[in-house]
Amino acid sequence: MYLRAVTGMIGSYLSYRLRAGNRHGLHSPFVYGLMDKVIGSSGARAEEPIEALRTTLLKSTKRLQIDDYGAGSRVSKSAERTVGEIARSSASRPADAAMLQRLVDHLGLRKLIELGSNLGLTTAYLAAAACRPELHSIEGDASLAAMAREHLRALGLDATVHQGAFKHILPEVLERCGQVDLVYLDGHHTREATLGYYAQVLPYCHDDTVLAVGDIHWSKDMEMAWQELRQDAQVSLSIDLFYMGLLFFRKGVPKQHFILKHP
Ligand SMILES: C[S@@+](CC[C@H](N)C(=O)[O-])C[C@H]1O[C@@H](n2cnc3c(N)ncnc32)[C@H](O)[C@@H]1O
Repeated sequence: MYLRAVTGMIGSYLSYRLRAGNRHGLHSPFVYGLMDKVIGSSGARAEEPIEALRTTLLKSTKRLQIDDYGAGSRVSKSAERTVGEIARSSASRPADAAMLQRLVDHLGLRKLIELGSNLGLTTAYLAAAACRPELHSIEGDASLAAMAREHLRALGLDATVHQGAFKHILPEVLERCGQVDLVYLDGHHTREATLGYYAQVLPYCHDDTVLAVGDIHWSKDMEMAWQELRQDAQVSLSIDLFYMGLLFFRKGVPKQHFILKHP
């Protein structure tokens, strides 16, 4: 059970389930395609080696001293945590990691940034996308960054894990990328920080960039951040998948917001 997915969010989840739509009645071919091939589809290539690694990590009692870089877990604020607890409480669900991988392949996204590598599980899904993207992932905690690197190496996947605070590393990664195709903002879940990273990333986005924001219903603060982001004038399309929100900057289309069912 993914604790960060359920604790304290039951009301928001019930409201989401009541309102979430499926592909019927989707008039936009772009959104229909996303629903058909990316969001509603469970036909991802099985990432068995990554899931085998996750199973091992979930059982791990290895203890790590974690530096708290921002709001990220409801479960434990203590500095020492087991790898198993971290895998349970912080990593994105397999369904979300696989969905992001399908998104990358469906839209041919090539330059990716993940904010919050944690143990590197979603990093691995992104790195394993068929289009073999250039992937930069940022993690503040040194022991987690080292583990993420080690996991990618063991899986034979290519991604750069940068260690340091987002605010220090993100500007140089953005400069290096020039333009970015996907940013997965999955750490430091406060309204202020989320809006700040959005402002930092925006100048490097183009019409086809996708911004994925994790844990949009995780707290009132994050709900507010999500409302503000999707109302931003630059955003033309927003999709609420409950565990994650997707923002698109496509030009020449009317501004639309969707709440869609995602496994
Ligand atoms: C929710 S976890 C990321 C999960 C990962 N994306 C996955 O799906 O497996 C968030 C991570 O971001 C890191 N983090 C949070 N705030 C940060 C900050 N301001 N700078 C650097 N790292 C940060 C935390 O240490 C944590 O490992």
